[in-house]
Amino acid sequence: MKKVLAVIMILALGLLTAACSAPKENGQEPESVVVGFSQLGAESSWRIANTRSVEEAAKEYGFGLMMENANQKQAKQIDAIRSFIAYQVDVIAFSPIVETGWDNVLGEARQAGIPVILVDRTVESKDSGLYTAYIGADFYAEGRRAGEYLIRKADALGAEHMNIAEISGTIDSTPMRERQRGFMDVISRDARFTVVDSICGDFLRSMGEECMRELLNRHGRDGIDVIYSHNDSMTLGALTVLEKEGIDSGKEMILITVDGEKEAVDALKAGKINCVVQCTPNLGGDVMKLVQKLKDGEAVGGVYHPEEGMFCDFDDLTDPAVEGF
Ligand code: AHR
Repeated sequence: MKKVLAVIMILALGLLTAACSAPKENGQEPESVVVGFSQLGAESSWRIANTRSVEEAAKEYGFGLMMENANQKQAKQIDAIRSFIAYQVDVIAFSPIVETGWDNVLGEARQAGIPVILVDRTVESKDSGLYTAYIGADFYAEGRRAGEYLIRKADALGAEHMNIAEISGTIDSTPMRERQRGFMDVISRDARFTVVDSICGDFLRSMGEECMRELLNRHGRDGIDVIYSHNDSMTLGALTVLEKEGIDSGKEMILITVDGEKEAVDALKAGKINCVVQCTPNLGGDVMKLVQKLKDGEAVGGVYHPEEGMFCDFDDLTDPAVEGF
């Protein structure tokens, strides 16, 4: 009854994706499980691929999916979660744009008895019981990989000193915090490296361009040896500026980026980017697997990290395994 009510309300509001509105092969029964998914935005190719992955997985599992895209606004995510609670969805999945400010709304979901799966990013709270499970990348390990690459590169170049400028993702988001922390933990003990600036590009390509222009204004082309950018979209934006300025990225300036989208991997193969730390957007299958377990009454909990690696200019980039999403 609960599910039937949810499906009717969702259909009435026109919010349901194709995954839920398609009739099931064996009849007109509504889906037995409805998942409410609050996506944080569409800021990058990564995010778009991530949304697709969740939609496709829901379809594959035959779950109804009620999805709301918050266009980078935390308030919209809170509203979406409240609407999922009102519709009595079976499971709430959501990717929090930043880590803080979720206690009240997640407390309401708990009160309503709806399990919450965090997707991609996590939340910071004193209350450890606000969510059931977290599925997302180990962003700290990604930051460390970026730092380890830089040390290897500096060794190979015999560099005595390198000035690093960081283009960070959304302030207080999990990937921003952890990619920065992992990177700093690796490089800060090495006296060859100085972080001369850190500027926020909000994971957006347009902002990556702006940040790069600003960094060149502040430090000049000779004042920056390395760009560490928290995602490919911003890196590709920065690359446009470097190309316009005639700066030979990959040689004159080292570029380290995170995600692994096709355009960035192609730029790595072309020698314009030096290192691409992988972060997979394909989390949908793991999310729906957990939803299935919850449906089956199995115990679910903890943190799930997908396996990830790194591609860089020390690798054989002709290897067919070197490819982006
Ligand atoms: O949270 C994952 C990050 O968010 C990805 O690295 C980035 O591209 C996205 O916008």
